[in-house]
Amino acid sequence: MSSPQPSESKTPRKYQLFIDGKWVDAESGKTFETPNPATGETLAEVAEADKADVDKAVVAARKAYEGKWGKMSARDRGRLLYKLSQLIEEHSQELAELETADNGKPIRESQYVDLPQVVENFEYFAGWATKIEGETIPVPGQMFNYTLREPLGVCGQIIPWNFPLLMAAWKLAPALAAGNTVVLKPAEQTPVGIMELGKLFQEAGFPDGVVNFLPGYGETAGAALAAHPGIDKIAFTGSTEVGKLIARAASDNLTKVSLELGGKAPNIIFADADIEQAVNGAMMGIYFNQGQVCCAGSRLFVAAEIKDQFLERLTEKSKNVKVGNPMDSGTHMGPQVSAEQLDRIKGYVDIARGEGATVLTGGEPPQLDEEFQKGYFFQPTIFGEVKNQMRVAQEEIFGPVVSAITFENEDDLLKQANETIYGLSAGIWTKDITRAHRFAKAIHAGTVWINTYNMFNAASPFGGFKQSGYGREMGRHALAMYTEVKSVWIDLSGKPIGWFGK
Ligand code: NAI
Ligand code: MG
Repeated sequence: MSSPQPSESKTPRKYQLFIDGKWVDAESGKTFETPNPATGETLAEVAEADKADVDKAVVAARKAYEGKWGKMSARDRGRLLYKLSQLIEEHSQELAELETADNGKPIRESQYVDLPQVVENFEYFAGWATKIEGETIPVPGQMFNYTLREPLGVCGQIIPWNFPLLMAAWKLAPALAAGNTVVLKPAEQTPVGIMELGKLFQEAGFPDGVVNFLPGYGETAGAALAAHPGIDKIAFTGSTEVGKLIARAASDNLTKVSLELGGKAPNIIFADADIEQAVNGAMMGIYFNQGQVCCAGSRLFVAAEIKDQFLERLTEKSKNVKVGNPMDSGTHMGPQVSAEQLDRIKGYVDIARGEGATVLTGGEPPQLDEEFQKGYFFQPTIFGEVKNQMRVAQEEIFGPVVSAITFENEDDLLKQANETIYGLSAGIWTKDITRAHRFAKAIHAGTVWINTYNMFNAASPFGGFKQSGYGREMGRHALAMYTEVKSVWIDLSGKPIGWFGK
């Protein structure tokens, strides 16, 4: 693996497709460029996969599944995954720098959040490989019934750009631990880290074809993968809009589907919360990763009696967030991932004003040095006077933009908090333990954080209620998404069945 180029070298890195253990050009010969979102300069030139490459990769993944990988012991699969986790850890500094160059996230996040969690996920699921077991079922009569948990086969995986390596880890680790093979398409905005990961899979000694990495666009490579009759499962993380397309494409072959989609999480500040802790929690909820987080606390519900005090403090602290060079270890927020995302956020500022909300701070790009003027930066932004029915309270913006809504009492709050098509996560800030648990139960969301936000662990399940998706990633629950259960019956009586006569 090579380190990221020094900033004075402007030669873009080059990547081919990773199919059947080999680095190959796309069948079409096409390539695309991926920019560094902080500067707008080209970071890498990448082979562009399309349907023909997807076909090739699915064949390779099937061959590996029916060959070496399928025959490998669970222990050896686990050992390979563990070895991979160690290789990632050894290379985590270079990978963190590349992730920041490709995505724009601040280096302290790549270094201390993304990469450690990538390592943790491969390590955690390495341990599971030998612990995927069936059950014996106490059926009546002279019968013995047991279950087998078998891999599904070839899994298609389509991932987004907000946590490129981590989203790959969430999907690859359980799929491989369970004995599947994979064809994965990274997001077109951020293929670099995943292609580097391909090199580490080779170095770890995974058999050819167990993982295949196909950078390319969603409408071409992604759509071809989702609709492919040769895959047994499609796993997707991204927009709810594309999630629906994936479910539709998969329905023709009744391919199994798991979806991790959008969110519009309520982050709830009760009047008895520790204000300083809750202000920091509100900031963690919305500014982390420039707000490009599916579980971002983008609807900030604040109790009416503390509203002024709370928003004043939040505004003051938001103004001190350091936006700029993501490679600088003191930076809190880097650029958004793309010009498209930046435009989308600016569009929502106009929508907010049009709907009658106020902009308490931010609302536009920051003034930065010459070097970063072509970057896709945006300031931490707070919308005040938001009503829960407004578009800025109902639609996923995916930026450092929070909509503050006030509530009068618990009933009013609960109704509003659950009034959304999404149900991915929620935050609650209070010192009242009874209220905290009452709300944790009443909120329709896959994850609830109490007096904390954005906590994750490889052992803890994550996924959505309602239109936030199907299934749970991480933890033992993820294995259910990558295995089939087979029920086996054996007659122990040794007698012929007498039902239709002797
Ligand atoms: P997207 O959903 O279009 O992209 C996510 C992945 O899906 C990428 O790999 C993309 O190439 C692929 N894809 C796109 N169209 C596809 C298709 N027709 N068939 C198969 N694969 C397809 O998200 P996009 O356009 O990058 O961002 C738009 C909005 O989506 C964001 O503003 C945000 O609201 C949401 N989003 C949510 C994410 C999450 O973690 N829940 C992650 C990324 C985006
Ligand atoms: Mg899209």
